[in-house]
Amino acid sequence: MPDISTEYMGLKLKSPVIAASSTLTRDIDGLKKAEEAGAGAVILKSLFEEEIRQESGLDADMAFHTEAYDYMAADAAMVYGAGDYLELVRKAVASVSVPVIASVNCEGGKWWTEYAKSIEDAGAHGLELNISFLPFDSGISSQEAESRYFEVVYEVTRAVRIPVAVKIGQGITAVPYMARRLHSTGAKGLTLFNRYYQMKINTETLELEPVHHFSTEDEAYNVIRWVAAVSRESAIDISASTGVHSADVAIQYILAGAATVQTASMMYKKGYSAISELNKGIAEWLDRKEMSLDEARGLILRKKIRQFHTLERVQYINIANGSIIK
Ligand SMILES: Cc1cc2nc3c(=O)[nH]c(=O)nc-3n(C[C@H](O)[C@H](O)[C@H](O)COP(=O)(O)O)c2cc1C
Repeated sequence: MPDISTEYMGLKLKSPVIAASSTLTRDIDGLKKAEEAGAGAVILKSLFEEEIRQESGLDADMAFHTEAYDYMAADAAMVYGAGDYLELVRKAVASVSVPVIASVNCEGGKWWTEYAKSIEDAGAHGLELNISFLPFDSGISSQEAESRYFEVVYEVTRAVRIPVAVKIGQGITAVPYMARRLHSTGAKGLTLFNRYYQMKINTETLELEPVHHFSTEDEAYNVIRWVAAVSRESAIDISASTGVHSADVAIQYILAGAATVQTASMMYKKGYSAISELNKGIAEWLDRKEMSLDEARGLILRKKIRQFHTLERVQYINIANGSIIK
């Protein structure tokens, strides 16, 4: 079987398949199962800024980007929950031999800087910043909103030496620009994309209800386009995280330039064996194509430039027999 080991943000991975941050990676039992199934790395369930804010009794509506909030929140972090998270990091590093990537959900502000250092001291091999700052306020411009990402990355990457990845949602306007700026600001990895919690309005009860939030394979295709666009424009390591429900999709992400792929929904549906299924499928494909993982990564961009232009096409023209007619 071909070697499927790889490098992601300077970390050596036995496989490009990473167990994504989710409730399946929130305890040692889950992490061990992911490792046994062959995960190249594990990303711990995020520690949520919001969670700590609520637990601490801080008013969720208060202006939480002020210095005052930062200090209060930092104090809250030390008292509620965040200490347990550091313990989880320590135990995880001691329990599994694959790289452990901690994950923090940041809505903004500098207060994660101190905490990121604690995560590094607890032994994490990397840190994924799950930044979910969404500008619901009409007074915030897209530029202002996106500059929050750069501020967080600037502060955190100056505080720690471990590699830092940024996980963004699909709502970013200029993803390749964002990737290039995040990279030059200090991020080594970019995870495309997060799935945000969604609500629907129940038209009978007139109440909000959470929507079932697992992905489908079809959702990968829009993301493959962005993976290809970013990998053409930036040297940042890309981790693809949407709709990996088969080895075929994982391979498509790699061909588009992803260094690693992450699985969450497939693990929920099939159990941790989803990881071994993905590893096996990737290895078999490489074997059949007589290709190394390095050769496969980004191949679609190197092979024919026209293929890339097709990926950039966003409007339907005519589709007959599955091929686009100009
Ligand atoms: C139940 C559940 C919990 C999740 N929790 C987190 C989380 O704490 N932090 C995070 O960054 N992403 C979280 N995610 C998002 C996943 O890591 C992943 O990015 C997303 O589900 C897309 O990948 P998929 O198509 O393989 O599901 C969660 C996803 C699910 C389904």
